[in-house]
Amino acid sequence: MTHDTRSAPRRAAAAAAAAAVAAFGFALGAPVAAQAPAPKAKDGKANLNLDKVARGKYLVSTSACMDCHTPWKMGPKGPEPDLSLTLSGHPEKMTMPPAPKLQEPWVMAAAGTNTAWAGPWGVSFTANLTPDPDTGLGLWTERDFVATIRTGRHMGRGREVLPPMPIAVYQNFTDEDLGAIFAYLKSLPPIRNRVPEPLPPQLTSAKP
Ligand code: HEC
Repeated sequence: MTHDTRSAPRRAAAAAAAAAVAAFGFALGAPVAAQAPAPKAKDGKANLNLDKVARGKYLVSTSACMDCHTPWKMGPKGPEPDLSLTLSGHPEKMTMPPAPKLQEPWVMAAAGTNTAWAGPWGVSFTANLTPDPDTGLGLWTERDFVATIRTGRHMGRGREVLPPMPIAVYQNFTDEDLGAIFAYLKSLPPIRNRVPEPLPPQLTSAKP
């Protein structure tokens, strides 16, 4: 479109706003960083995934992934996620005694890290969502990730994903949202941490 349909006063307002940006480095409601050129990848090409990654970060930070997939530690103000282990799942080196025997109506117990859970399904341990190729999502494709959420099965074809992973909630994401989440997870620093396999129900409680 080459034809400018804007009225003269609107053109003048736009020119004034542009002058403000030039003089003071800001525009109303838009931080100056928004005007900066897109960062370049190592090969010098513009990172076209940037918006996707930023959206994924936003979705991950508003969808509680950190609550369960980052181990919690005791901080000065109480339990807080250990950011040096961001999204790396249940720590492999943590020794877990048998899950406590619960009295109805208590049916579920969680470790202080918020990464190990005992319930009627057995004991589940939150997965490593960093892109480590051996212990995380490094070898997963976006398709594997979307299929996991859509079907509630590992990579869309393996075993069922256990509670408390809120699969049914995340099935409300669009494929585009899930793609953005996956792009963000792939952008994280990889952390090597082999999360244990889940335990079947009969192994969850100590023998009386
Ligand atoms: C309430 C706790 C909880 C929350 C919140 C949560 N997860 Fe999980 N997640 C789990 C648990 C527990 C497992 C391991 C389940 C199992 O072993 O079957 C898991 C497993 C996974 C897996 C691995 C599935 C597989 O087949 O290997 C992926 C991927 C995943 N979560 C992604 C996410 C993402 C992305 C978010 C945020 C949008 C999220 N999770 C939020 C608890 C949670």
